Amino acid sequence: MQSKILGILKKRQGYISGEEISSRLKITRQALWKHIENLRVAGYDIAAVPHLGYQLVSSPDRLFPFEVTHGLNTKLIGKSISYFDTLPSTMDIALQLALRGSGDGTIILAESQGRGRGRFNREWFSPKYKGIYFSLILRPKIAPNSTPILTLLAAVSISEAIKEVAGIEARIKWPNDILIHNKKLGGILTELNARMNITHFVIIGIGLNVNNDKKSLVAGATSLKEQKKEEINRVELLQEILRRIEINYILFQNRSFEAILDKWRRCNVTLGKRVRIVLGENSFEGEALDIDNDGALLLRGDSGLVQKVTSADTVHCR
Ligand code: BTN
Repeated sequence: MQSKILGILKKRQGYISGEEISSRLKITRQALWKHIENLRVAGYDIAAVPHLGYQLVSSPDRLFPFEVTHGLNTKLIGKSISYFDTLPSTMDIALQLALRGSGDGTIILAESQGRGRGRFNREWFSPKYKGIYFSLILRPKIAPNSTPILTLLAAVSISEAIKEVAGIEARIKWPNDILIHNKKLGGILTELNARMNITHFVIIGIGLNVNNDKKSLVAGATSLKEQKKEEINRVELLQEILRRIEINYILFQNRSFEAILDKWRRCNVTLGKRVRIVLGENSFEGEALDIDNDGALLLRGDSGLVQKVTSADTVHCR
């Protein structure tokens, strides 16, 4: 009901009478007043003037599901949102929900995480109301060996959305780091649940530094606020990411892998570089030639031999 009330308030530029809202929603004036009070508690500034009615003055900087779905216009991605003020990690809840059958496109969103994690079990710093932290459940009807492309798909979608909303060119370091001016803005953690040749589901975890102040960022990291020198509307950015993921996911479902890989090639900073591949204790160097149809990196070592690297940390040498 609160989302419907907000929808009505957002559409109206000026005041709208309580009578009109309650009759449209078929609720009593008393019930409407209670909902307005709850919205105020949630941070909405709603003016109320006798004989004129209500007017939305401002909305809080929160990723409330009804904010995210309002005007989202996707058919699948983000149609179902589980929202938490704080969680240990959205990945754990996503796994529980996926195992219980949550559908394709469900997202689990948190304003902060106590144990946000990155690849290779690194910590993902997730301060409250500063970033965007969510996990997306996908159920692609595709064999497990093609699912790594979903990580590239997510990276491309984030880069496209940042360009659209903030006007900044964010680049991708293979496989999944989102960089601006060589500093890390975001990352993607992909977890696959599959058996034999059947993909049950994939969970894509996305973490982005949005309105973090420079001094609160870890070494080597950046935020959109640091780059733009202004706050970014997190709802708008999240909505655009979800829209872009949907567009690219349709390409993926239609097996148009090459279209996604081409987009990835256009916004990556790894190909053509000399890179060091780090796999635990071991590392080796070579020239990053291309990515193949599974999203793996093709690396020409110093012996001339071309190797396929499916998962690793990469360091750009020059
Ligand atoms: C990386 O760069 O290593 C990946 C970082 C992924 C972080 C996101 S934040 C939302 C989701 N929940 C987590 O615990 N991790 C991912």
